[in-house]
Amino acid sequence: TGLFTYDSGFLSTASCKSKITFIDGDKGELLYRGYPIEQLAENCNFLEVAYLLKNGELPNASQKTAFEDTIKNHTMVHEQLAKFFSGFRRDAHPMAVMVGVVGALSAFYHEAMDFSDAEHRSISFNRIIAKMPTIVAMAYKYTTGQPFMYPRNDLDYTANFMHMMFGTPCETYKPNPVLVRALDIIFTLHADHEQNASTSTVRLAGSSGANPFACISAGIACLWGPAHGGANEACLQMLEEIGDVSRVGEYIARAKDKNDSFKLMGFGHRVYKNFDPRAKLMRQVCNDVLKELGLENDRLFKLAMELEKIALEDPYFVEKKLYPNVDFYSGIVQKALGIPTSMFTCIFALARTVGWMTQWEEMITDPEYKIGRPRQLYIGAAKRDVAPLASRK
Ligand code: CMC
Repeated sequence: TGLFTYDSGFLSTASCKSKITFIDGDKGELLYRGYPIEQLAENCNFLEVAYLLKNGELPNASQKTAFEDTIKNHTMVHEQLAKFFSGFRRDAHPMAVMVGVVGALSAFYHEAMDFSDAEHRSISFNRIIAKMPTIVAMAYKYTTGQPFMYPRNDLDYTANFMHMMFGTPCETYKPNPVLVRALDIIFTLHADHEQNASTSTVRLAGSSGANPFACISAGIACLWGPAHGGANEACLQMLEEIGDVSRVGEYIARAKDKNDSFKLMGFGHRVYKNFDPRAKLMRQVCNDVLKELGLENDRLFKLAMELEKIALEDPYFVEKKLYPNVDFYSGIVQKALGIPTSMFTCIFALARTVGWMTQWEEMITDPEYKIGRPRQLYIGAAKRDVAPLASRK
C-alpha cells in the first residue's frame, strides 16, 4: 500500500543526476559534456567524442593517440566468441545475434565482474568500444555467408569497421575517405542521448550490480524496438512502401488518422519539440554521401524530402510539434553506404555503446546510487480467499 506519484512513461520524472549530456528540447539543442553536437561533428572524430564522454574532457593530441592505440589493442574478439555466431540461423535478425553475443562477453572477461576497481571499469569500456565494430561486422558477414574479417589496425576506427563489413580476403579493402567520414559522423550523432529508453535500461540493469557486458546486452534489446533505435529500419521500410512522391499525401493522411495505428517513422520525439539537431546534421551527411556516390537523384531521398516538406507544413504535425528525428535520414545514408536495412540498428548500438558505458560508469560511481526499484499503483483485485477447487466457477 502507499501513494506514489504515477508517471507512466517517465514523462516528468528525473531518474538520475548526470553530467554527461544536456538536451534543450524546445531550442533543439544537444550538448555532450557542454560541447554542441554541431561543433563535435565538425571538429572531432568518433573516438575523440568517446574519450570526451568517458573522461569529461576532449583529449589533447598525445591523449588522442594513446586512446586510439589502446582501442586498437582490443579490436579482436576471442576465437571462441566467433563460434557463437554459428549457433544462429543465417536469417536471424542481426540485433538478435547482437543481444546474445554481446551478453556472452561477460563469460570471457571475468575481471569485469569486479567493477569496484576503476581500472577494471576502464578496461571494460575500452574492450567493448573496440569490439563492437568487430561483432557488428561479424553479425553481418554471418548473414551473407562470407568469412569474418579480422580487424586491421593500420586503419582508423571507422575505416576498419568498413573493412570488416565490406572487405573480403580476396582483395585489400580501400576505404573512401568521404564515406568513412560520413559514417564516423553518424557514430558521433548516436553516441549518447541522456536518459532514453535503452540508456535507462542499462542503468536499471546495472543498478542491481549486473556486469557491464550484460547491461549493454539489455540496452541492445531495448534499442531494437521500432519506437526507439529500430525506427531507422522502420523508416526506410516505410519510404520503400510509399514508393513514389505521388503517394506521400495518402501516408500523411494515415499518420493523422486516430483510427489508424500508422505513425510517420522518423518523426516525433519525447524531448525535442523543435527540430532534432541530429536530423539537421544527418541531412547534410546524407547530401554529402549522395553527392560523392553520384546519387543526388536518389528516389528515396527525394521522397524523404517531399515527406518532410509536406509534414512540416501540415497543421497536425505543426501543432503536435512533430519534426524529423535522427532516424529520418540515417537510413537513407546507411543504405547509400551499402549497409543493409537489417543492420541499421546495429550501427546505432555500436555508437550508443559509448553512451551506455559512460552512463553505467556514472551511475556505479554515484555516492547516491541505489538499486532502481520503481513502485506502482496497484489496480488489481482486493484481498480475497482461495475457494476449494470444486466450488470454483
Ligand atoms: N506520426 C504521427 N503522429 C505522431 C507521431 C508520428 N511519428 N509521433 C507522435 N505522434 C502523435 C501521437 O499520436 C500523439 O497524438 P495524440 O496527442 O493525439 O494522442 C502525439 O503525437 C504525441 O505523441 P506520443 O506518442 O504521445 O509522444 P511520445 O513522446 O510518447 O513518443 C515517439 C515519442 C518518438 C515514440 C513517437 O513520436 C513515435 O513513435 N515516433 C515514430 C518512431 C520514431 O521515429 N522513433 C525514433 C525516436 S528518435 C531516435 C531514438 O532516440 O530512438
